[in-house]
Amino acid sequence: MSLTLGTTAGRSLRGTVRVPGDKSISHRALLFGAIAEGSTRIEGLLPAEDPLSTAACLRAMGVEVSPIAAGQPVLVQGVGLDGFREPEDVLDCGNSGTTMRLMLGLLAGRDGRHFVLNGDGSLRRRPMKRVGGPLTEMGATIAGRAGGNLAPLAIQGRRLHGATIRTPVASAQVKSAILLAALTAEGTTTVIEPVQSRDHSERMLRAFGAELTVGGDGDTMVTVTPGATLRGQEVVVPGDISSAAFWLVAGAITPGAELTVENVGLNPSRTGILDVLAQMGARIEVLNARDVAGEPVGDLRVSHGPLQAFTIGAELIPRLVDEIPVLAVAACCAEGLSRVTGAEELRVKETDRLSVMARQLGAMGAVIEEFADGMAIQGGVSLKGAAVDSETDHRVAMSLAVAAQIASGATELHRPEAAAVSYPGFWDDLERIQA
Ligand code: S3P
Repeated sequence: MSLTLGTTAGRSLRGTVRVPGDKSISHRALLFGAIAEGSTRIEGLLPAEDPLSTAACLRAMGVEVSPIAAGQPVLVQGVGLDGFREPEDVLDCGNSGTTMRLMLGLLAGRDGRHFVLNGDGSLRRRPMKRVGGPLTEMGATIAGRAGGNLAPLAIQGRRLHGATIRTPVASAQVKSAILLAALTAEGTTTVIEPVQSRDHSERMLRAFGAELTVGGDGDTMVTVTPGATLRGQEVVVPGDISSAAFWLVAGAITPGAELTVENVGLNPSRTGILDVLAQMGARIEVLNARDVAGEPVGDLRVSHGPLQAFTIGAELIPRLVDEIPVLAVAACCAEGLSRVTGAEELRVKETDRLSVMARQLGAMGAVIEEFADGMAIQGGVSLKGAAVDSETDHRVAMSLAVAAQIASGATELHRPEAAAVSYPGFWDDLERIQA
């Protein structure tokens, strides 16, 4: 499939967008609901391919999850901490790293049961030892290709014991997998990260009744004491700031643009993009800041204006790891040379996002120097419409659509359907706000 973009020369972007539910929070609401006692009602769950993968895996293990459709609350009937049935077939995680990694943590301790996790071509290339390694320290048995690093992965459920684990990468997927395994391990478990990653698991596990403490320098240390029963909850999922990011950048770089993005999750472990846009001098206002079910939320208003180059280093990466592709587009429109370093994690996302963005934006005339751990992007460059490809990565597809908006001439985007992994209504929203 391909899509022709950027044929609305001279038109701007105006209006209001309500981005779909946060992907990270959606996965967690389904998973924690499944291992709780009683039912969980989820409002605002992201009805996209990744959460559907999580729901399908849960159903295959005997968890009742009501149909997932936009605007409908989702009900999960919890089976308790150790209630998963051994599935009859391979569990398909699709394109979703969060599904596979959190599932590893949940399943490793299911004594006496066997599970096989698989995924699509992209997921089968992504490193899983970062989760399997720590779980093995807790007594887990996980086997897979490349010495247990690559799916398909086979898990033989066992009783686990608590451990103190220092993770070399700041990854919420790794941290969350360990915390989930810790819920039924013998003894306490502590995870220590180099820099704090997103903390949705900690917030939501606490709300479900888990015994969990957070401390250490910059909240980098989380300890779980097993034994607590999780109880079903009402979860309200805010809009995904990682999806809002496309509109924030589109609004900041498109002449005449004025956009409001409503109901955006503003958890401080996710708002690095707002810090960088502020650093660039972008015109962004936070309106109506409020707290919704334990997560900060607000509306964001953005309008076009002049932008300066940014500098992003390793400390900031965990707070905007998914937003680097679209920030690379913003950098093309800024004055000066923007630099990203300490971002080697981008090479093991759905695609190698450093090289894919350098290649695809490069095809539109961007001047990008790629390094092992980041890139330098020349500002003040006029992008030109070109034939580009999402390379199957949802965030690349949407970032290239934002670039096409300000490029001269038409852009032919191949494989735009990748956007459905996290934002199925993206193309409709884009059309609706053209003004
Ligand atoms: C996620 C964490 C991040 C992020 C991914 C979702 C999560 O990955 O890139 O889109 O839900 O925990 P890492 O934790 O591996 O950095």
